[in-house]
Amino acid sequence: MKVVGFVGSPREGSNTGIMVEEILNGASEAGAETELLNLSKMNIAPCKACMHCKENNGECGTKDDMQIAYSKIREADAFILGSPVYMWQMSAQAKLFTDRLFANFKTGFEEKYGQKDMALVFSQNNPDENMFKEYFYYTRNMFDFLGYNVVDMLTSTENSIPGEVKNKKEVMGRARKIGRELAKG
Ligand SMILES: Cc1cc2nc3c(=O)[nH]c(=O)nc-3n(C[C@H](O)[C@H](O)[C@H](O)COP(=O)(O)O)c2cc1C
Repeated sequence: MKVVGFVGSPREGSNTGIMVEEILNGASEAGAETELLNLSKMNIAPCKACMHCKENNGECGTKDDMQIAYSKIREADAFILGSPVYMWQMSAQAKLFTDRLFANFKTGFEEKYGQKDMALVFSQNNPDENMFKEYFYYTRNMFDFLGYNVVDMLTSTENSIPGEVKNKKEVMGRARKIGRELAKG
């Protein structure tokens, strides 16, 4: 059982990263092998819509660090995508990654590598937990539509300073629980 986490925040000690890491800790506690990758440290180009993937059984024609992400996802049983809320949406780093998952869409991915479980993580500064709820569910539905099984979603408000979320016991507890759930498969 392998679980891989992708973090779409560019900040050192990011709240998003802490939440993703805590999910991985929960998964590891339950026996999973885990790995965390920071998307902002990876060289991931935008999707070029070249359709190479559709003509080549899901192989993306752009040979950058997304190739690492593709292989990590293929090998994993579950993955996590975490992002800060930037302008009411996911960060650009997370969006580049998401667009590039087009290569796994309708190219026989599930048949070859199995359906992957997934968890989504969002960190925001706005104190209203309902403010971006529609966007979070919209994103969740999109990943379900893409063929992933979104098991759970973790969101946290009022995180302006890196590391703040560590003091939010309820959020950290939920993160661990999601990790244990992902590790069950
Ligand atoms: C470019 C930018 C746009 C942002 N837009 C929003 C926003 O629309 N709503 C919000 O609540 N917070 C917004 N924020 C604040 C971050 O979402 C918030 O600080 C988040 O917890 C950062 O996560 P991190 O610690 O993982 O980087 C924005 C921050 C930046 C830098």
